[in-house]
Amino acid sequence: MLLVSLIIIQGCNTQHEGVILSYESKSDSIISLMTLEEKIGQMSLFTSDMSATGPSIRNDYTDLIRQGKVGAVFNAYTVDFVRGIQKIAVEESRLHIPLIFGYDIIHGHRTIFPVNLGQAASWDLEAIEKSERIAATEASAEGLNWTFAPMVDISRDPRWGRVMEGSGEDTWLGSLIAAARVKGFQGASLADNNTILACVKHFAAYGAPQAGRDYSTVDMSDRSLYEWYLPPYKAAVDAGAGSVMTSFNEIAGVPSTSNHWLLTDLLRGEWGFNGFVVTDYSSINELVPHGVASDLKQAGELSVNAGVDMDMQGSVFLEYLNELVKSGEVTEKVINDAVRRILIAKYKLGLFDDPYKYCDKKREAEEIMTPEFLEFARGFVAKSCVLLKNEKNTLPIPSGVKSIAVIGPLADSKADMLGFWSAAGQWEKCVTLFEGIRNRAGSSVNILTAKGCNVNDDDLSAINQALSVARKADFVVLALGESKDMSGEAASRADISIPGVQMILAEKIIKTGKPVAVVLFNGRPLSISELDKMAPAILETWFGGTQAGNGIADILFGDVNPSGKLTMTFPMNVGQIPLFYNSKNTGRPINPQNPYEKWKSNYLDSPNTPLYPFGYGLSYTTFAYSDIRMNKNSFLENEKVVASVDITNSGDRDGEEVVQLYIHDLVGDVTRPVKELKGFKKVLVKKGETVTVTFSISSDDLSYYHHNMNFTYDPGEFALYIGSNSAEERFVKFIVQ
Ligand code: BGC
Repeated sequence: MLLVSLIIIQGCNTQHEGVILSYESKSDSIISLMTLEEKIGQMSLFTSDMSATGPSIRNDYTDLIRQGKVGAVFNAYTVDFVRGIQKIAVEESRLHIPLIFGYDIIHGHRTIFPVNLGQAASWDLEAIEKSERIAATEASAEGLNWTFAPMVDISRDPRWGRVMEGSGEDTWLGSLIAAARVKGFQGASLADNNTILACVKHFAAYGAPQAGRDYSTVDMSDRSLYEWYLPPYKAAVDAGAGSVMTSFNEIAGVPSTSNHWLLTDLLRGEWGFNGFVVTDYSSINELVPHGVASDLKQAGELSVNAGVDMDMQGSVFLEYLNELVKSGEVTEKVINDAVRRILIAKYKLGLFDDPYKYCDKKREAEEIMTPEFLEFARGFVAKSCVLLKNEKNTLPIPSGVKSIAVIGPLADSKADMLGFWSAAGQWEKCVTLFEGIRNRAGSSVNILTAKGCNVNDDDLSAINQALSVARKADFVVLALGESKDMSGEAASRADISIPGVQMILAEKIIKTGKPVAVVLFNGRPLSISELDKMAPAILETWFGGTQAGNGIADILFGDVNPSGKLTMTFPMNVGQIPLFYNSKNTGRPINPQNPYEKWKSNYLDSPNTPLYPFGYGLSYTTFAYSDIRMNKNSFLENEKVVASVDITNSGDRDGEEVVQLYIHDLVGDVTRPVKELKGFKKVLVKKGETVTVTFSISSDDLSYYHHNMNFTYDPGEFALYIGSNSAEERFVKFIVQ
């Protein structure tokens, strides 16, 4: 009893203190009361038995909480469930310290939005931030206060299944999106009851595994790491992300979870990060198979001394830290520092004031899947769709059609619509493509459907029936792609074409001569050159989430004009991977006039160019770009380079265009990419109207890591491109002194 009141006076009840102590000193007061075991407990995170997101779970986690051996729990949500667990911590453990509740809220919590790669294709930072605000509102209404997001891993390899969780291949855009997501989750203040702590992951460079295989080795130059992979994590940290998750991979021989340079020198030292670092799922244990620790005890020592504060699910801290402190291999200061960071997060979240702050039944009943959230989700689906091909204006579906056949294994598949990492999303509540089309078309149009085949097997038996359904219709929508589990974690593919016998189905349906629009569902760029040759229209829709079918129908019927643009290159074939827009010229660049010329950097059997480049996406209208104008051609270091272009909507409907600015540093201190995105604006241009888009860039935008790793620019000549995708060739040149 004495201990309890001591805690209340010294740390737990901020309302009744005469002096407002800083969170740090409050945490230190608590630390002074803790046994070593209790401190180690704060550094331990376990999954509940509600669901599991990794290979192992501990059934005794509630006993551990009771014993003060757990600091946070994940995979537990809903007010009653969370309250029950929190109650054990605050009523039955000796020090009554509340738990943090974490979860993978990756693209929505209950209202599921398009997968993150799809969201990025909207190029709409406000919408992205708002989606995280909604996700945080819903999650915090169900007991949660910590998300394992944003995932900001840059990736240039579509074989890697986790590209669906990221923003694509571009560092600059990825950094803006990373910051927007953190702001969305954490809102104005973590003290509010509808904001949650962000956890930027997976630190670092998890998106560059060799051969695109999940969990595989990462090896790259420091320059690539600093220039292409680290900035989005830094952007998230600068935006205030309260926690960071280590990655499974190694970088140049050092696994992230034992990388002192990464977690301490860079993250805390150079970047000034003051939140806490959690491992990925048992990644301390994985230091043993990585081959840098001979046993779990050594793994624990390496990771805690590298800068890890919290062990996710590995039980390594719980089992070995005590011994390691006693033997002097780990100092108690390291432990105290880690515990302090975790307790400070609990203070920031307001858990010491009210451990049940996120357990509000009223909020749970009222703030989940509201009509407003669903409406926003529907709009976000439409924003994320990318029109890849539209020969002879096949789309939108002409208004006079009397019957539409929605064919394919993904035509009416509720279970797939959520995509991987669907948090607490309920697949039964998803709107399929078939349902969305039926909702929109109304009773005057006959909507038929047939599966035709499965996503990924060799069964041809249902194709004929699908053909006869297609023949009866005026218009066919053909839903092809991957199932939701073909991307995401542990879902790399060596062959990224459309799986199973779907291409056989596609060929036969297209040969009927009916107008056909292909709707693609997938979590990564696919290799679809054959489909591109055959299909008159292709709409990339990713996995749209709860409102998938309605949002896609808005595009198919022309209620919304598509404006999404790819943030990851679609290759012509799988052998070109990794293929990305910001590549180098090389000393023997390909000759575009003769792409197969000998002694050039090319292939014997494939062009170098992609099927669809980064930044690409069509609209139902057309946009004409004027020449680029600049304020002048020669600049001093501190002068702004201002460039403008006029965009005229030359088609017959209003539309939004993502206008993109790229630069090319023509002569660098080290070799530079042929193009680098440095600006974009998404503008609405009404039909027949012209808008002027103006960009302003500074010498910072032209800077990069020189051979001595100084971040600076090269005086000299630059090319500046403005266009509707990364392959466009409209440019001007300028000089910076
Ligand atoms: C994933 C993380 C995730 C964690 C917890 C891991 O397997 O790599 O992204 O946050 O599980 O579910």
